[in-house]
Amino acid sequence: MTQRLDGRVAVITGAGSGIGLATARRFAAEGAKVVCVDLDAETGAKAANEVDGLFIQADVTDEAAVRDLFQRVVDEYGRLDIAFNNAGISPPDDDSILTTGLEAWKRVQEVNLTSVYLCCKYAIPHMQRQGKGSIINTASFVAVMGAATSQISYSASKGGVLAMSRELGVQFAREGIRVNALCPGPVNTPLLQELFAKDPERAARRLVHIPLGRFAEPEEIAAAVAFLASDDSSFMTANTFLVDGGISGA
Ligand code: NAI
Repeated sequence: MTQRLDGRVAVITGAGSGIGLATARRFAAEGAKVVCVDLDAETGAKAANEVDGLFIQADVTDEAAVRDLFQRVVDEYGRLDIAFNNAGISPPDDDSILTTGLEAWKRVQEVNLTSVYLCCKYAIPHMQRQGKGSIINTASFVAVMGAATSQISYSASKGGVLAMSRELGVQFAREGIRVNALCPGPVNTPLLQELFAKDPERAARRLVHIPLGRFAEPEEIAAAVAFLASDDSSFMTANTFLVDGGISGA
């Protein structure tokens, strides 16, 4: 494997599972020092152990915890090169506009969108001091198209991530900080499996619309994240980076 991230310090939120875990493995394989952040102490610590990295247990909706975690990374490693702001949840239940409750709506915005605001807010000052950094925020294909998923709070939160990433990419470009939004299509992770468990026919309904005819594996998304994190994407910022099996192009 190429060592595009040799010596880089990378923070990954939601590193204990799915896309975050695959990316922790990929970043480590490419030479990065990986800081795994997760709410789940068991899976987060396991991931960090596997990639010989640091585990920080944190709830990414908690402002003090997010501030402290980025400070700790810089105290420990002296720098911060990459922030992959990826932790997220799917809505607890039926997420149609007609039925979703206000509390459920707020929780999804908090975990999926406010967390990205907080992580960018506390990562960027460290990157400004270095005059360089790469931020990748996980949005979704539902941020760019109507996907008939009836997931209103989820789609709205991801639209917010996309708009915020674009705005930050433009604002900080001349300070050497690149900010891109990653928009995966459906990926075979616990998050997706949970949705299919609630509605078993959903998988077949969704597959019809994916030109490549299958769901992504987390490793395929991790490869795209590594590209965005590395200098191979040095002329890309404020970008909507779709890795979706063609779903948004069909
Ligand atoms: P996952 O459920 O496998 O992993 C999410 C991780 O985030 C878990 O380890 C969980 O403990 C952690 N997490 C949740 N809330 C947290 C909090 N408050 N603080 C810290 N950590 C927290 O999910 P997956 O599929 O890997 O999703 C990762 C991201 O990709 C999410 O933002 C999701 O919305 C997005 N996404 C996923 C797609 C899919 O089909 N799986 C498609 C498009 C986007």
